Amino acid sequence: MHPLLERQIRKHLEPAGLGQETMRPFLEAVDRTYQHDDTALKLAEHSLDLMSQELTERNAALLDQLTERQRAEAQLENLLFLLGTTLESTVDGLLVLDREAKTVRFNRSFIEMWRVPDEVMAFWSHDTLMQHLLEQLVDAQAFTDQLAHLCSHPELECDDTFECSDGRVIERHSLPQPQGMDDVGRVLSFRDITTRRQAETALLQEKEEQKILIKKLEEAHNQLLQSEKMASVGQLAAGVAHEINNPIGYINSNLGTLRGYVERLLGVLDAYAAAETLLPVGEATQQIEAAKARADLAYLKTDIVDLLAETGDGIARVRRIVQDLKEFSHVDQGDWMLADLHKGLESTLNVVNNEIKYKARVVKEYGVLPMLHCLPSQLNQVFMNLLVNAAHAIEDQGVITLRTGTRVGEAGEEAWVEVADTGKGIPAHLLTRIFDPFFTTKPVGQGTGLGLSISYGIVQKHGGRIEVESEPGKGTAFRVVLPIQPPSSTHHE
Ligand SMILES: Nc1ncnc2c1ncn2[C@@H]1O[C@H](COP(=O)(O)OP(=O)(O)OP(=O)(O)O)[C@@H](O)[C@H]1O
Ligand SMILES: [Mg+2]
Repeated sequence: MHPLLERQIRKHLEPAGLGQETMRPFLEAVDRTYQHDDTALKLAEHSLDLMSQELTERNAALLDQLTERQRAEAQLENLLFLLGTTLESTVDGLLVLDREAKTVRFNRSFIEMWRVPDEVMAFWSHDTLMQHLLEQLVDAQAFTDQLAHLCSHPELECDDTFECSDGRVIERHSLPQPQGMDDVGRVLSFRDITTRRQAETALLQEKEEQKILIKKLEEAHNQLLQSEKMASVGQLAAGVAHEINNPIGYINSNLGTLRGYVERLLGVLDAYAAAETLLPVGEATQQIEAAKARADLAYLKTDIVDLLAETGDGIARVRRIVQDLKEFSHVDQGDWMLADLHKGLESTLNVVNNEIKYKARVVKEYGVLPMLHCLPSQLNQVFMNLLVNAAHAIEDQGVITLRTGTRVGEAGEEAWVEVADTGKGIPAHLLTRIFDPFFTTKPVGQGTGLGLSISYGIVQKHGGRIEVESEPGKGTAFRVVLPIQPPSSTHHE
């Protein structure tokens, strides 16, 4: 090669990385020109200079482009690495789906959560992965249905939960992946919420238990209030009864004496009247006649006897009421004792007579009852509530029938007391509720709905039960059934 050309090549082409090999045909042509004509040679050298200069510039631009691209590629690689590690570092199982809902990617947590075995992993496909996942669900259909729904509504974002057959509860959050205006797929993230769900259920259960406990407490509180009220009413009644008892006692005995005195006075008057006929008619007899007329003696003599008899009746009634009050309250006898239920029924009837007398006629069909080991004041409370309820159930005029008797039940001999009315009756669907505390059909302020629930508790304490029969429109019968020999555990409560 011409030495000049060699120089030119070293100077311009080699630093630019354009070796002789690539430029060979061109160089040979130039070489030939150099060999033949010197002027042309000079020209050629010049044009070669120019050309190589241009080549160098172009090469430098190319180099710039190359480094720019390399940098972008490195950045992308970094970004992808970062994304990959982020994907792997979340505890949620992630599954990335494309627009056709086919699996594109998933992370390690997903594999672990769904326990994908190595053999499935080795040649995984969307179908094998899904198959494996669905096999573990209690309701696989719901899962696929929901996925299909999401697929046809790419903009939807939603959460749902699925139960696995091994008892785990998995929550699925589904998030669409928009790219500009387009949806390119969605990311499903799965989270095992079994422990959270268990805690929630336990909490709910605890809450329910607390509610029941509070209700029980309320009931106990109300029963306490009610029995305290009854006790204080009883005490008051017993106190009043005691106070009245004394004066009534001496009024009664004085009345007896008074009756005797009046009889004796009337005897004396009769004697005077007989003697009067013997007196000569004169001023004295006229005065006596005038005094007799003023005093209306004939009437006085008959009326005074009637008055005394009526007062005697009145006093007897007051004494009976006092006795009933004492009987009803049993304040000084709050313990278990042998008692006569008929007596209790009678005294209670007298106490609530005011509530009943304008509404109902009371018919008694008493059988024979033995003395019963019981808490008489509490049983009276039961009778009272049944009687008042019966009276309330009668809208206009009706009949309340009290029946008693004994029978042999499963647990031995039982005594029963029935309060039947001809009132409005109880609809069948309410029969199971009437013993609930606070259940009442009465207007606000008229019924607390505690009567039957307290009665139920009292009868239960006696080892007995309350039976109800009712026909709407015809009437109701409540029957208190008590074992004659109550269970020993309830003896001394
Ligand atoms: N003999 C009856 N006839 C018809 N319904 C009755 C009869 N006895 C009870 N019921 C029904 O049962 C409900 C509950 O009775 P309970 O004695 O427990 O409460 P109450 O009478 O409404 O109120 P409280 O007795 O506390 O004043 C009554 O509201 C009533 O609807
Ligand atoms: Mg009542």
